[in-house]
Amino acid sequence: MEYQIKSAEGKLGVLIPGLGAVATTFIAGVEAIKKGIAQPVGSLTQMSNIRLGKRTENRYPLIKDFVPLANLNDIVFGGWDVYEDNVYEAAVNAQVLERHQLDAVKAELEAIKPMKAVFDREFVKNLDGNNIKKAKTKYDLAFELMEDIRSFKEKNNCSRLVMVWCASTEKYIDHCEVYDTIDNFEAGLHNDDPRISPSMIYAYAAIKMGVPFANGAPNLTCDIPALVELAKVMEVPIAGKDFKTGQTLMKTIVAPGLHARALGIKGWFSSNILGNRDGLVLDDPDNFKTKEVSKLSVLEEILRPDLNPELYGELYHKVRINYYPPHGDNKESWDNIDIFGWMGYPMQIKINFLCRDSILAAPIVLDLALFMDLASRAGMGGIQEWLSFYFKSPQTAPDLKPEHDIFKQLIKLQNTLRHIMGEDMITHLGLDYYQELVESL
Ligand SMILES: NC(=O)c1ccc[n+]([C@@H]2O[C@H](COP(=O)([O-])OP(=O)(O)OC[C@H]3O[C@@H](n4cnc5c(N)ncnc54)[C@H](O)[C@@H]3O)[C@@H](O)[C@H]2O)c1
Repeated sequence: MEYQIKSAEGKLGVLIPGLGAVATTFIAGVEAIKKGIAQPVGSLTQMSNIRLGKRTENRYPLIKDFVPLANLNDIVFGGWDVYEDNVYEAAVNAQVLERHQLDAVKAELEAIKPMKAVFDREFVKNLDGNNIKKAKTKYDLAFELMEDIRSFKEKNNCSRLVMVWCASTEKYIDHCEVYDTIDNFEAGLHNDDPRISPSMIYAYAAIKMGVPFANGAPNLTCDIPALVELAKVMEVPIAGKDFKTGQTLMKTIVAPGLHARALGIKGWFSSNILGNRDGLVLDDPDNFKTKEVSKLSVLEEILRPDLNPELYGELYHKVRINYYPPHGDNKESWDNIDIFGWMGYPMQIKINFLCRDSILAAPIVLDLALFMDLASRAGMGGIQEWLSFYFKSPQTAPDLKPEHDIFKQLIKLQNTLRHIMGEDMITHLGLDYYQELVESL
């Protein structure tokens, strides 16, 4: 299939539900990069190269020079939050970036004021802001969001929009029949069904407006059959869930390595302390459960104990997150990994990652915004599994197991870019450098 990718001319509006630590760090960073006072470290779109063709051709362009992405200077920001603080005030409160760096982009950040949020305390108990929409039904709320989207696009003279969910993690919910079909879901919106969460309403509004939607939190959001179907019908890209940062990033780097060397793993105990607002929200057991499910799925899928019961059949995997205000956004995580080698001899690995949550998340938001816009211009509607690289709990077609191994995810992402640009896939076979390969009949 030939991809006709529409041009990236004109402004790209990045709309963000949730202008908290991650979103403000992302926006401040992009504004600083535009001014030439910061580097987009951690962003593949801006700083990574991609190999094209054979190694002997020596073609390694930057990704941003290979695929037609929006230019950072063409990006404008908007968003919603339950608190009224503008992005400068919210960034100061989040205490991720230093004051002098925020002050360098103060005017740009102050100009971004949150629109009134769709919010329901049933889904996030630990917040109490009052910058909230009031309407008779959830359908009316969705309609108001669509109006917000329309007027943002017009006011800012955008040619395209994308939406990236950076709002708090909602409480854990199970699948139910309201999520099954577009008809059920829309009936639920009209009937104000309590099982429809705010994030689903944002996702619905975005998809209906033709705006690609990526979900940075572990809530189901667009990972329900009704919204998957709607995204297909409307040919709108969707992706999720839960930005892959911190401890899970480490886990999906280390676990594939141990697995690759056929080393056994008996136990993996992960604990975290963090003190930002995200930590406060996750202090509620219902909200923690959503995160826990997202974090736990990773090892099972990488190690496949069903295929390798001798090595991973007894794996005990535990994840703990504790709210600890003094650490703020500077999360600390500890992993104790009990592994075993030749003849069953035990060994241990300890990882103590002193990371900064939002510093790791911000470049993910940038890449997702740019790649989701690219997917939309390339006519790729529905689930964007090739963006699994960025997620803890990648959304896939219902009958597919997600790929968690970060190296396979990277190959998938790079091959997708080669594919849509009409370049050869890279298999890493490499035998052709040493012998004549006979074409198979
Ligand atoms: N920081 C990371 O590394 C990381 C990694 C993976 C996932 N996440 C997820 O990203 C999200 C944002 O993280 P954060 O650290 O910025 O949290 P945060 O608490 O600083 O920001 C979230 C913001 O969302 C707002 N909000 C809550 N519900 C809303 C709604 N319905 N509509 C609009 N705004 C709403 C809150 O008022 C808050 O300002 C969380 O769900 C978190 O779990 C973060």
